Amino acid sequence: MSHWLISGGSVLNGSVPVQGSKNAALPILAATLLIEEPIELKNVPVIRDTENMLRILRSLGCTVKREGDALIVDSRTANNCVLPTALSGELRSSIFLLGSVLSRFGAADAPYPGGCEIGNRPIDLHLKGLRALNAKITEEGGRIRCAGGSLQGATVDLGYPSVGATENIMLAACRAAGTTTIRNAACEPEIVDLERFLCACGFCVHGAGTPAVVIEGVLKGHGVSYRVMPDRIVTGTYLLSGAITGGDVTVTGAQPETVEPLLFKLSECGCLVTRQTDSVRIRAPKRPRAIGFTETRPYPGFPTDLQPQLFALLSVADGTSVLTENVFESRFRHAQELKKMGAENRILDRTAIITGVERLHGACVTAHDLRGGAALALAGLQAEGETRILHAERIERGYERMDSVIAALGGLITRKEESIGE
Ligand code: EPU
Repeated sequence: MSHWLISGGSVLNGSVPVQGSKNAALPILAATLLIEEPIELKNVPVIRDTENMLRILRSLGCTVKREGDALIVDSRTANNCVLPTALSGELRSSIFLLGSVLSRFGAADAPYPGGCEIGNRPIDLHLKGLRALNAKITEEGGRIRCAGGSLQGATVDLGYPSVGATENIMLAACRAAGTTTIRNAACEPEIVDLERFLCACGFCVHGAGTPAVVIEGVLKGHGVSYRVMPDRIVTGTYLLSGAITGGDVTVTGAQPETVEPLLFKLSECGCLVTRQTDSVRIRAPKRPRAIGFTETRPYPGFPTDLQPQLFALLSVADGTSVLTENVFESRFRHAQELKKMGAENRILDRTAIITGVERLHGACVTAHDLRGGAALALAGLQAEGETRILHAERIERGYERMDSVIAALGGLITRKEESIGE
C-alpha cells in the first residue's frame, strides 16, 4: 500500500505537460497481439495499469522492452492463450485481450473480471459481440473459455455504447473474414485513437467517433511506430487543480476539444478558459460558483471519469450544485471521504446534492478507486492543513508521478511507499 501526504493551501500556478492516455494505451497494447511484427509505441504512460498490461503480455509470450521514451512490443514470440488469473484480476481492462488473443490463437481463456469499486461492470456486451463473430464461449468456474478458429464478420448492435465492448469487438474483427459493423458503438476519443493505430498497422477500420464502426477483415497487419494520444482525464484533473485552488494552470500537449464538456463546466464556475491548438489554460476566480446541474453521459457528454474531481471542486463552490452519475452505479464513494474533510453533500440514489463550503480541512481519507482518489488529492490541495490519503496506489493506476506535476505547479504531495495500519 502507498499513501500520500498533501499540504493544502497553495495556489497552483504554471504550465505542465500531460501524459499519454491510459485508456487509449491499454487497448492499443492489447492490439499488439494482432501484429506479428515489432511495434514501437510512444507516449505510453508509466503507471500501474500499463505496467500490469505489459506483465500480462509478457506472460502470453510477448517480448517487451523500453528504448528511451519508446516501448517496443514484439508479439512474434507469443505462445500462450491463457490469461493469468492474479494479474488479470488487478487489471479489469485485461478483458480487451479476449478479442485479440482469440483472433491471434483461435482460442482464449480468461478469468471473469467480476465487479469493482465503481459498479458491477458486467461483460455481457463483450461476449455478445464475440459470439456474433462466431466465437464459441463457455463460462464456468469463474473463467471464460473461447474457441473461434474461424471468426466471421457480422453486424453487432451493442444497445448501449460500451467503450470496452466496442474496442474488444474491433480487435476481434480486424482479422476476421468479411465485414463487421458495430452499431451503437461508443464514440470516445480513445476509440478514434485505436482506429488510427489499427489503420497505421494496415487494418481496415472506419467510422470510429460515430455510432457505427466498420471493420473489413484483413489477414495480417504490419509493424509501425505510433504515438498514443494525450490523456483527456488527466488534462481535466490538472485544470481542476488550478480551479480548486483559485490558480492559473495551463496543460500543454493536450487535445482541448476532448475536454470540452469540462471546459464548459469550468466556465460556468467562473473560470476564464483559453484554448490553443494543443494546450488549454484556466484562470480561476478566488472561489468557484456552484453550477445547477451536471450529469455524466457517454462521450460527448460529461465524462464519468471526471465526475469525482468535479465533485471535489463543487464541494468548495459558492452555492448548491447537483451532480448525477449515469454511467456507473456506485461511483460516489469519494462523497463520504470528502465529508471527513468538512464537505457537505447528500447522495440520493445516483444524484449528489453538494453545498459548497468555503474551505475544506485536512483529514485521513481513503482512495477507494482511481478517480475518487484523484478527487481527494484535489480536495487536499485546497484544504487547510495536512491530508493523508490511504491506498494512494489506486491513484497511481492512472496518474504518472502526480506529485512531480503538482510540485511543478507549486503544490506539495509527498508519496510514502511503506505500509501503515488503517
Ligand atoms: N456495461 C454493461 N455490459 C458490458 C459492458 C459495460 O452493462 O458488457 C456497462 C457498465 O457496467 C457500465 C457502463 O456499461 O455501467 C459503461 O461501461 P463501459 O464498458 O463503457 O466502460 P469500460 O470499457 O469498462 C472504460 C474506461 C473507464 C471509463 C468507462 C466509461 C478503460 C480501460 N476504462 O471502461 O475508465 O470510466 O470506459 O467511459 O478504457 C478510469 O479510467 O478510471 C475508468 C474507469
